[in-house]
Order: sequence, then structure tokens, then C-alpha cells
Amino acid sequence: MTRSETSDFSSKNRVREECVKTFYSLIRAARIHQANNQLIVQTAKEFVRTIALLTKDSEDVSIQFMGRRIYVQEKKVIFRPETVALFDNIIDYFDKRAIQGLRIYPSIKDIKGAELLGFIRLLNEAERYNQPQEQLLSHTTSGQYPWVELLRKPSGTEAPGEESRKNQGLKSYAHVLGSVQEIAQKLTTKQSAGLNRARRVLQNMVDLIMEDEPLFRALSTIRFYDDYTFGHSVNVAILSMCIGKRIMLSKKSLETLGLCGLLHDLGKIQVPKEILNKNGKLTEEEFEIMKQHSMDSVRLIVKIQASRDRKNDILLAPFEHHLKYDLSGYPKTDRSSNLSLFGRILTIADVYDAITSPRVYRKSVLPPNRALGFMWESVGKDFDPVLLKVFINMLGVYPVGTLLVLDNRKAGLVVEPPDGAEGPLEWARPWVVLLKRNGNNGYRKFVRGDTVNLAEKDPDSGRYRYSIIKSLNAANYGIQPIDFIK
Ligand SMILES: [Fe+2]
Ligand SMILES: [Fe+2]
Repeated sequence: MTRSETSDFSSKNRVREECVKTFYSLIRAARIHQANNQLIVQTAKEFVRTIALLTKDSEDVSIQFMGRRIYVQEKKVIFRPETVALFDNIIDYFDKRAIQGLRIYPSIKDIKGAELLGFIRLLNEAERYNQPQEQLLSHTTSGQYPWVELLRKPSGTEAPGEESRKNQGLKSYAHVLGSVQEIAQKLTTKQSAGLNRARRVLQNMVDLIMEDEPLFRALSTIRFYDDYTFGHSVNVAILSMCIGKRIMLSKKSLETLGLCGLLHDLGKIQVPKEILNKNGKLTEEEFEIMKQHSMDSVRLIVKIQASRDRKNDILLAPFEHHLKYDLSGYPKTDRSSNLSLFGRILTIADVYDAITSPRVYRKSVLPPNRALGFMWESVGKDFDPVLLKVFINMLGVYPVGTLLVLDNRKAGLVVEPPDGAEGPLEWARPWVVLLKRNGNNGYRKFVRGDTVNLAEKDPDSGRYRYSIIKSLNAANYGIQPIDFIK
């Protein structure tokens, strides 16, 4: 994306966000106020105004809730820290009503406030019915509210209220992202920032890693294109915690390690945006400024309101995260002692996520398997050999989220590591989901096809059914691997 495309994206995203936000305000206000209440009148006006803006170049506005994400006009709405909680609430609200979303037509501008409120009340009350979806559909298909259409949940999705583990994982991801954004924002505006929210979500994440490590690890394949720093921080926290779990750290240490990951790049809020998002190589001067961010992370962590002990636990690793195993790197240090364990873990997670994530200014990135190969070239110099082995072992030859081109001109996305029962030859033959192109669904170019085991052989010929031609980075094709993982 060019700079102007980026700003165009964020202003459009703001309108979409506003549309959802005002709609939810209406839902809440309708519970206590009458149609002529000032707050209701004002919020309804705001909502109709955003619909008018959004229907400038389209015939309707769809608001959809899918997999704990919100799409307005088939574009994913990006959460801001102050709206994360609200978004969660509205997703739960529609989940309880077994409704996937709404489609609103421009004729909404001609209706009376009382009619809009009547519809909102209908939504509010649907919670009481056993089959809320049926109740709601019977009203909206009767022509009573011609300016709105309810979108059914496709069959086969979870029952209302029954949250899958994946959804819980996605929710934790959104919350932990919100918590680090909030800390950064408060520190930038000189307000006091605490660690409680971040710690609470990290505790949930530690529970998830204990129950379902592969799923937890797969969360790190989420890439937020527009908010690289914080998405990266969450991914580094996740990957570090996974390494920590593999080397049997206690739950308490995993939480501390997660905090280190979350806050390691906090100092980047003080690096000017032009340097942070520069398209091309940094000049020597710019690089000097960039290099200050690890020390600045430490300074900012000191400012966080938390007990001294807790802060002491999370200062060293962020300070060390750009120092290498042989103590080269930055900030320059003349010490002879090794890097701390958390520092060595963080460096591995940090480099891996950085070279596998697309950035606004960097079009192509390494596919996960090539990234591991690249890191292995500097083992013992940049990275702790034992920990890097643990990491590679954990991710496998083709890490989950790698996009594979197969010999039958099909594309497969790695969703599970290989069974490996048949020995080393099959260690490189993971489970993949075949990707099918979907022409009618603009915001998702691919849909899930069959899940196949690449280690499977044809019983007649004794040959593998599929061969891997090459690996690609899913992110370069706009694919969020987590969407395809069950
Ligand atoms: Fe960094
Ligand atoms: Fe980093």
C-alpha cells in the first residue's frame, strides 16, 4: 500500500467503525430510553449519516460478524484500543441471536425514528426466544422493515453462545492486542498505564497454551497489516510463550515471558513514523535513532504503574532483544555474561515474526520454512543453538500457515504438522487444507477445500498422492492462515 492508500484505508475504516459503534449505542440506548429521547434521536441521526456515507458508491451496507471479526461492506473493520471491548460486546450480542449480520438499504434515511427504534427493540427482545433467528426473520421478511434485511448464519456454524476454543483464542488475541495498544497510548499521552489488563489476558493465554498448544501457536499467524508494531508484539509474545512451554517453564514464568514479548518494542512509539515505516534502507543517522528503541522500551516500562518486583522481571529481556547470542548487536555492551534466558527466547521469536510478516513497505517476505533455514545460518552467532533447535522442532519443516504449491496445480495451506509415523521422509509431509478460489465472495478470495494428509500414498501405485512444488508466504496472497485452521 502507498502512503495515500494507507490514509484512505484508515479514513474508510473509521467510517465503518463509526457505523458499528453508533448501531451498538442505539441498541444500548433503546433499552432505557423512549424514541423521543435526545440521545436516541442524536445517535439515530449519526447512524443514518454513516449509512449515507457508506452507500455513496454502493447499493447497501452489510454488517457481518464472522469468526470474531466484523466486516462492514465485506471489509474487515480494524479494532482501535478504545473500541475493542465494544466490538466484543456486539459480536456476543449477535451471537446470542444466531444472526450473522444485517444489510441496510439507503431508504433508511426516509423512515421515522420510532420505526428504527421498533426494529432495535425487536433485536433486543429476541434474546428471550428459544429460536431467536426464526423469530427475527419472521418479522423482517414480512415487509414491516423494508430498509433492513437480516443475514442468516450459514448452517454448520456453532450454536449460539457456544464458544469454540478458536473463538476464545481470537478473543484473547484481540484483547491482548488492545491491552498493549492501550499501554502505548496512555504512555504517549502521559496518563498512567498499568499492567492489570495485559496480565489478565496473558493468564487466559497461558491456560490456552496448556490445553491446545497447536491452536495457540497458530494464533501467531494473524497479521495486522495496518498496525504492524502491536500485532508483531502479540505474535512475539505468543511464539516466546510456546518456546517457554517446550522448555517446561512454569505458568508464572510463561506469563512474565509473555509480558516481555508484549512490551519489547514499546520504545518504538518514540521513533518517528517516517523512520518506522520508511520505504527503503535507513540512513546511518536514522538507524541510530531506530536503535534507541530497546533502551526506550526499558524507560517506558519503568514508567508503568506496577510493583517494583514485577517491573524488574520484565526489564532485562526487552533491553536485550536486539543483542545477539555472541553479544554483538545493540545497545553496545561490554559485558561478558551471556544474555538472559528470556532475552535469548525473545530474539528468536522477534526475528522470526519480523521476517515472515508483510509490511507496508515490503512486498515479499520469506515463507515460514525458508525463514527457519535463514535463521539456522546464524545459529550459535545470533541465536542460542539449543533454543533455536527447540523452535524449529516446534514449528516443523513446513510450519503451520505455510502456503504450498502442489503438483496438481492446487494450493494447500499447512494446518497441522505431519504425523511422521513413517520416518524422516514424511516429516516434511504435513496436513494441508486445499484452497478453492471463491469468485463471489470479494473479501475472501479463497475458501476451505478438503483437508488432506500429504503423507498419504495411492494404494495402487504406492506413490504419494501429492508432491510439493514450492512454498510461498500465505500473507503475500492476502490469506490469514488462522481463518482456515479449525
Ligand atoms: Fe525491536
Ligand atoms: Fe520486535
